[in-house]
Amino acid sequence: MSCALPAFAPTRADAPAPPFAVLMELTHRCPLRCPYCSNPTALEPSSAELDTATWIRVLEEAADVGALQVHFSGGEPCVRKDLEELVAHATGIGLYSNLITSAVLLDEARLKRLKAAGLQHVQISLQDTEAAGADRIGGFRGGHARKLDVARMVVAEGLALTVNAVLHRHNIERVNAFIDLAMDLGAGRIEIANVQYYGWALENRAALMPSREQLLAMDAAVRARLPGLAGRIVVDYVVPDYYARRPKSCMGGWARRFMNVTPRGRVLPCHAAETIPGLTFETVFDRSLSAIWTDGPAFARYRGTAWMPQPCQSCDHKEEDWGGCRCQALALAGDADAADPVCERSSAHEAVVALRDRDAAALGTEWRYRGL
Ligand code: FES
Repeated sequence: MSCALPAFAPTRADAPAPPFAVLMELTHRCPLRCPYCSNPTALEPSSAELDTATWIRVLEEAADVGALQVHFSGGEPCVRKDLEELVAHATGIGLYSNLITSAVLLDEARLKRLKAAGLQHVQISLQDTEAAGADRIGGFRGGHARKLDVARMVVAEGLALTVNAVLHRHNIERVNAFIDLAMDLGAGRIEIANVQYYGWALENRAALMPSREQLLAMDAAVRARLPGLAGRIVVDYVVPDYYARRPKSCMGGWARRFMNVTPRGRVLPCHAAETIPGLTFETVFDRSLSAIWTDGPAFARYRGTAWMPQPCQSCDHKEEDWGGCRCQALALAGDADAADPVCERSSAHEAVVALRDRDAAALGTEWRYRGL
């Protein structure tokens, strides 16, 4: 007589915890042309985008790997005619859907369809607090007024709204006006998002870098407002990298919280990871998200703390900042394995300060708009 043991899936003791969210960059197409866009400067054409059936499979794999949220992003995700179908599928398999949008292609009818499909949260970026400046930086006439209309529709539909206020040299003095505008629109959250210098923003750094005086005034204004905003609006505020003394925990740590899927289906630990030479990126046609998350070579490369050089390895904060940002280490120190030069303990930190001050003084520098 034989005795059959119950089948079970073996689990690896060292398997990583599931990602919190998967960011799906449905497209790089966008009607706006912001010079600080975090998309790569080599944008993907529409012909390279995954089709609906593949995105649906990716959604199912996101649920399988244990993600709780899906962020539909771009480019502008509303250029995709299948957005409602994708949101509905995400809802059906229990994923919380967030739409990260410029809002200029949305109208009430489409918003209602997206809500009916199960959309729960909308994040709208604002380029400035008044139309002339906002439309100039976005390169899209009439965009600001449209965004405000749509933001009000989002709240009227009962969807959660986050305002993403992108600050740089040309609007940083209006941080209080951004906060007032977000509250007037009924947003539950505002991200005070100082430009981070990746992608197009890195190209345009000399045209966007605020001065130290601007930065200090903005920081003082935000800190003065924070106590009065408690319980009224959630404020996400991070000191901009080039003025920081400690690195940020980029993406909540490499391969700890997030996966990115690009328009053509490459699976990345962060939106700028493709800038790092020598990493091997798998696609959704190679293996499942679960397999890539567990032991994909790009994900494993900087996960945890074992890879860290000194002084990170002996730093008390290494499990708080997870070594900062690998893409920034590459951009500023020329080596993705190096300590993030934003950290004042990095040997390259003084060079970053000099670079920042040089760019902040480059008044009159014209930016280059994002474009194919
Ligand atoms: Fe790639 Fe920070 S953007 S690690």
